[in-house]
Amino acid sequence: KIHRIASIPGDGIGVDITEAAIQVLDTLSKTLGGFEFEFKTFDWSSRAYLERGWYMPPDGLDRLKEYDAIYFGAVGSPDVPDHISLWSLILPIRKALNQYVNIRPTRILPGTISPLTSCATSPTFLDWVIVRENSEGEYSGQGGISHEHSPNAVATEVSIFTQAGIERIMRFAFETARARPRKKLTMVTKSNAQRHGMVLWDKVFFDVAKEYPDVEIDKMLVDAMTVRMVLNPQSMDTIVATNLHADILSDLAAALSGSIGIASSSNLDPTRQNPSMFEPIHGSAPDIAGKGIANPVGAFWSAAEMVRWLGEGEAADGLMKAVENVTGAGIKTKDLGGDRNTREVTDAVCAEIERL
Ligand code: NAI
Ligand code: MG
Repeated sequence: KIHRIASIPGDGIGVDITEAAIQVLDTLSKTLGGFEFEFKTFDWSSRAYLERGWYMPPDGLDRLKEYDAIYFGAVGSPDVPDHISLWSLILPIRKALNQYVNIRPTRILPGTISPLTSCATSPTFLDWVIVRENSEGEYSGQGGISHEHSPNAVATEVSIFTQAGIERIMRFAFETARARPRKKLTMVTKSNAQRHGMVLWDKVFFDVAKEYPDVEIDKMLVDAMTVRMVLNPQSMDTIVATNLHADILSDLAAALSGSIGIASSSNLDPTRQNPSMFEPIHGSAPDIAGKGIANPVGAFWSAAEMVRWLGEGEAADGLMKAVENVTGAGIKTKDLGGDRNTREVTDAVCAEIERL
């Protein structure tokens, strides 16, 4: 079976970690057999934008639809305003391809150290899945600015929440929670200060909850949630939050699990009418770009989630096992307290895959 993958390495360390992920995926298919990957690389990046004036060609989104999945590195450059790079590439892809679910799992990999280790009561004291609403809310792109470049400038950034949009993410979150051993869902909101969209979000949550009596639920305000994530991490399992809140909470979650360099992000179209997109949660990291020291673990975890989505569950488990054997053996990049570079960690993971 051939899985056709559109690869968009993007900028900065996105290029290094995409190359590493492709090497690992090729090793996986050669070692396990039964399936192959065919990669097509798209040079859609800030670098290319600065040269030619565009990120994606006009038919870019249609071209992506021809693939089974999309593997994305990162986009962003110090030479392009971040709202332009984000709105030229990753946000339009998520929206046009109906990727309304973003899944961000967090757990402590063997051999990595959480800054919360002092409150660790069991190896699973931090094991979360954050379900992020990925299509509307605070990142709707609605609003504008009047009296720009004057002392009277006024900007609005309008969040859009629809009943249908909230309902579908809630159902996905409840299904995710139900499929996990603890069957527990925590819903995050800010419905004390934001009195329209967030109140609707709360209401839909409790309505949908009636269909899932076997899932234990609770509700948090986002500010209190940051405290609970640090002080009582074992009290949560599956978490559902809006586009903005989950964006922030998942970076915190990644840091609490050891480094932002290990976390994965799956942008899913659950209807499977469009390809889904898999990427590490980190950005292009211009501060370490070109040094060959980026942690590729988040890229490997994202690759594993892609492989799982493509129906190769055993290969996905094998890849994660290989990654865990490598981190467990202390073969880690600097962000995790190790002294290895991207190449060394990648070669070690490939060697582990060959031993599976
Ligand atoms: P960032 O995630 O790129 O970096 C934050 C910090 O974490 C930096 O100190 C970086 O060196 C470190 N870091 C990140 N990934 C790492 C890895 N794999 N290994 C080791 N260290 C790692 O976030 P930042 O600095 O806020 O943004 C940089 C650029 O990336 C901006 O242009 C931003 O817009 C863009 N960005 C793009 C995203 C995407 O493509 N999905 C997501 C987040 C940011
Ligand atoms: Mg983010």
